[in-house]
Amino acid sequence: MNILSFESSCDETAVAVVRDGRQVLSDAILSQADMHALYGGVVPEIASRKHVEAIAGLAEQALAKAHLTKKDIDAVAATYAPGLIGAVLVGLSFAKSAAYALGVPLIPVHHVRGHIAANYLAFPELKPPFLALAISGGNTLIVDVKDYTDMTILGATRDDAAGECFDKAARVLGLPYPGGKPMDELAQKSEGGVYDLPRAHVEGADLDMSFSGLKTAVVNLAHNAEQKGETLNRAALARDFTRAVSDTLVPRAVEALHRTGHTVMVAAGGVAANSIIRADLETACRREGCRLYLPPLSLCGDNGAMIGAQGYYEYMAGHIADLTLNAYATRDLDENTF
Ligand code: KG4
Repeated sequence: MNILSFESSCDETAVAVVRDGRQVLSDAILSQADMHALYGGVVPEIASRKHVEAIAGLAEQALAKAHLTKKDIDAVAATYAPGLIGAVLVGLSFAKSAAYALGVPLIPVHHVRGHIAANYLAFPELKPPFLALAISGGNTLIVDVKDYTDMTILGATRDDAAGECFDKAARVLGLPYPGGKPMDELAQKSEGGVYDLPRAHVEGADLDMSFSGLKTAVVNLAHNAEQKGETLNRAALARDFTRAVSDTLVPRAVEALHRTGHTVMVAAGGVAANSIIRADLETACRREGCRLYLPPLSLCGDNGAMIGAQGYYEYMAGHIADLTLNAYATRDLDENTF
């Protein structure tokens, strides 16, 4: 089954063709990051407008790269939530039109389910059940993936997502947007141990997380240093910041393993590209005797193929939408209504 899939929830416009949920025939992506870097973060209206310009051309490219024509497409999948609403609407509306024109089913895909499904593309043997740590620019979730479309959120951030926190801390350190990768590179240049940064604990909800205090601590450090005319040890701060993020994520993921009894863990999302977090997850999973799947860096960030992968399993579960399907800025990933 060939699924033409669309992703436009933030600043990447992506269209892919995926066969049977596991084989990527093509993945055409246009990142707008350079444009938003001028403003230090994503400007929602610019994102929507850039999606409008790019999407039809990328759909043509995805078909051409897959050596297919429109007649070979069996279904259309699209991110319908969560994300920047104007941005999601562009991809979803185009996908609806494509499904209508081609006379094929329309499959709604939750963006974070897509991130988790990116692992199905990289690891043919991977099947639920497993525990997923989904860490991206907009979401930070610990998920019990009981089946391809049966998931329960075990823990979530109460405020900022881990990626958002990386981006804000990077900005304070004078690094370009998106800040995760440059922070990662800067952190490699120091052993850290210089800055004492907070690790938040959410009372009564051990698996929930909070990153806003950490973000504020980095902002305050930089501000105070500037006022006192002191020079920050930027590499040490990047390292100590990343350690604080990892210390928040990894022990909770391990605790979730204990609670669920899962012996397989999957990482997903842009922040899953972080070298320190990857190393910490590897160490923790080795200690726990748990099999860890880390997606290749190319599948950590937003892409269209992950939507096609999850779309296949949504289709198999009968999750087909009609053409009244709407887009949502927020939506829990354990919901199966559209
Ligand atoms: O998954 P993604 O592409 O978009 C969302 O679905 O949100 O994630 C983007 C986020 C950004 O915040 C970016 O700074 C972060 O992932 N990121 C990283 C790294 N590479 C990307 N964060 C930490 N370390 C990295 N190496």
